[in-house]
Amino acid sequence: MKVIICKDKKEVAKEAYKVVRDRVMNQGAKVLGLPTGTTPEGLYAEMVKGCKKGEIDFSDVHTFNLDEYIGLPVEHPQSYRNFMNTRLFDHINIKASNIDFLDGLTDDIDRECARYEAHMEELGGIKLQIVGIGRDGHIGFNEPGTSLSSRTHMITLAQSTITDNANLFFDGDESQVPRWALSMGVGTVLDAKEVLMIAFGKNKADAIQGMLEGPITYMNTSSALQLHPDVTVVIDEAAASKLKYRDYYKRIAPGNEEAMLKFLAAARKKAGRK
Ligand code: F6R
Repeated sequence: MKVIICKDKKEVAKEAYKVVRDRVMNQGAKVLGLPTGTTPEGLYAEMVKGCKKGEIDFSDVHTFNLDEYIGLPVEHPQSYRNFMNTRLFDHINIKASNIDFLDGLTDDIDRECARYEAHMEELGGIKLQIVGIGRDGHIGFNEPGTSLSSRTHMITLAQSTITDNANLFFDGDESQVPRWALSMGVGTVLDAKEVLMIAFGKNKADAIQGMLEGPITYMNTSSALQLHPDVTVVIDEAAASKLKYRDYYKRIAPGNEEAMLKFLAAARKKAGRK
C-alpha cells in the first residue's frame, strides 16, 4: 500500500483530491465508489471547488455509495443519500441518473443488494473506491466479524459505530441511530480497480495500525485491503501515530520513485553505462 502522511485533515483532503482528480481526468476512472461520514467532507469540498473551477468534470461519472441506513427515507436529514446530496451531488455537474444508491426503504433486501452489485458489474466495475475507516476498522459498514469475501448485504451496526454516529450526526442521541444498514461487502470493495483510504485523528490510530501492520483478520475488515494490489492511504500525523513503520512509509511516499531514478541515472553515468 502507498501511505501518504499529511500534517492535518486539511492536507489529507487536498492530497486525496489530487488522487481523485488525476484518476477521473487522466486515467478514465468514470465509476466511483464513495463514502459518507465526517472523513470525506473536506475532500468533497475540494471536489466541489475543483468542479466549479473546471478542473474536474463529473458529466460522465457514475457513482455508487458504500452504504445506507435501513429505515431512513432519502429526505431524512441523516440519511446517507441526503448527506451526499448536500455535500457533493447538488454542487457538481453529475447527472442524477448516474447516481446509484442503496435503498434503505426497500421491501426486498436481497433483491436490492443483488441489483446494486449487478449495476456495478454492468458498468464495468468500480474504478476508484474511496473509503473511510471506523474506530473498529470497518470499511463500508463491515463491522468486525464480517466475512472478508462478503458482497453487498445487510449489516447490524456495532455499538462503537452507533455511539460515533450519534455524536457526529444525531446530536448525541443514540436512540435515533438506526441499528442496521445496507453496505457493500468487503469483497465488493476489494473488486474495485483502485482503493483510496482517507482518515485523520487520534481515534483512528489503532484501526489504521491494524489495517497496515496487523494480520489480515475479519476483526478489522480494513485489513483485507492488504490483499488489494492498488491502495493509497492518505492519513494525518495523528492517525499515523501508532504505526511502527511510519518513517519508512514517509521514505516511500510520492517523489520516491523519481529520486530513485535520478540516483540510478547518476550511478549508471559513474559506471560508464549508456
Ligand atoms: C460511511 C462508511 C463508514 C465510514 C466510517 C468512518 O459511508 O462507509 O465506513 O467511513 O464509519 O466514519 P467517519 O468518517 O464519520 O469517521
